[in-house]
Amino acid sequence: MRKLNMVVNTLDKKAHINREIYGHFSEHLGACIYDGIYVGENSKIPNTNGVRNDVIAAFKELKMPVLRWPGGCFADDYHWLDGVGKKSERPKRINAYWGGVTEPNSFGTHEFFNLCEKIGCEPYLAGNLGSGTPKELSDWIEYITFDGDSNMTELRKKNGREKPWKLKYIGIGNENWGGGGAMRPEYYTDEYRKFQAYARNLGGSHLFKVACGPSADDYRWTEKLMENLNDTMVDALSLHYYTVPTGDWEHKGSSTKFSDAEYYGTISRTLQIEDMIRKHGAIIRKYTDKVKLIVDEWGCWYDVEEGTNPGFLYQQNTMRDAIVAACNLNIFNNNADIVCMANLAQAVNVLQALLLTKGEKMIKTPTYHVMNMFKTHQDSENVYSFIENEKVGEGGEEIPALSYSASVSQNGHLNITIANCSLTDEYEISCRVIGATASAATGEILTGNVHDKNDFDAPTNVIPKVFGTEIKDNVISLTIPKCSVISLVVGFSGFKY
Ligand code: AHR
Repeated sequence: MRKLNMVVNTLDKKAHINREIYGHFSEHLGACIYDGIYVGENSKIPNTNGVRNDVIAAFKELKMPVLRWPGGCFADDYHWLDGVGKKSERPKRINAYWGGVTEPNSFGTHEFFNLCEKIGCEPYLAGNLGSGTPKELSDWIEYITFDGDSNMTELRKKNGREKPWKLKYIGIGNENWGGGGAMRPEYYTDEYRKFQAYARNLGGSHLFKVACGPSADDYRWTEKLMENLNDTMVDALSLHYYTVPTGDWEHKGSSTKFSDAEYYGTISRTLQIEDMIRKHGAIIRKYTDKVKLIVDEWGCWYDVEEGTNPGFLYQQNTMRDAIVAACNLNIFNNNADIVCMANLAQAVNVLQALLLTKGEKMIKTPTYHVMNMFKTHQDSENVYSFIENEKVGEGGEEIPALSYSASVSQNGHLNITIANCSLTDEYEISCRVIGATASAATGEILTGNVHDKNDFDAPTNVIPKVFGTEIKDNVISLTIPKCSVISLVVGFSGFKY
């Protein structure tokens, strides 16, 4: 077993880790909204106003800080008035992006905002710039946030909601370089300038405006946006980056059947997001200190499960996804100076889902458990951490064995998360803590074979277990097995937050 040294310096604070970095995304796509989140008031499945109670409880347990809706690509085809008023009178539309199925519009603005209130999370609306109008966006904001005397307020009240809701995050368009209108950056920025002017602060709300940012490493898009916008119009650019194991969108690879080389290729591709964040961040910082990055779509994208609708993007989730999730979250923590929010794609039954449902059954995926283990970082301060690392891999794919981050919380805890990405080696780590006296530590571990998953007949095959450590002379000793994710909460004294 290899011994590696680690250092955490609690005095060297890097940046605040916004709780929104642990955010999520729900689109009208496949079984994410319908069946996954929303089953309707008359369903046999226990629900509150049509939303599954098991899903509400799982979201609450995560302390889900923010939920993005209604898309994705769907957002630029969504007209919000379709989704308010009497359900039986709401129009049926075609979900043109995702399988051409009928969109009943039974889950709309009221259902979404009430769900966010129930969970206690911030709603993050994706506004329609592609096929909508500035008026439509402005009316939607007024309908949601205004309390004065206006037709929109009256309509909201007539539809059953007396008081306005709170709205902070508003995206203006989605992937407008692609599905959202195939725009050039010059054209998009002109459209954005116009739309954002009608996204008004009403009823005490102060909107945080998000422009459609780049896909992956498209630095030209970021440069053009920053050239043509200024920080009075935009608060953040979104970044979308999906991890495709093979790197080939035509043959992405299976979610459950993969070789060790494909596994290392997946992790190698996921780690590339750090370079993208830094480079997009550097472009933004040439222009302003204020604008941030929001990674509002991230995660693994595989070939759909055999026998499922190709337009529904349903995939299983294994320990590989757990490692991917841990690597991404550590990267977001370590780049919290520029990343102020991130939203895993997607919350239920779509892509790298937190939860999978089948009728009355619901299971938590390995990705869910990682999100839950990492939630201690929410609203803490990222601090300096370093591990002597080594390279591991197979088939020409080499990656650093360990991914890690550390933070200190206001309640006097040091949080350390580590993923051992190696499929062959365990490591003995001696972690020296600087700037505070470490006392007891509690830990959790998620580990298993890289192909291990939870299924409807084996829902707890992969679940976190207690993880033990020793502390002596301010050094935490731990052994991290191959293919595992650990989360430690260390009590310490002598440290001023
Ligand atoms: O998350 C699935 C799709 O991926 C989203 O609708 C779109 O924004 C992206 O291309």
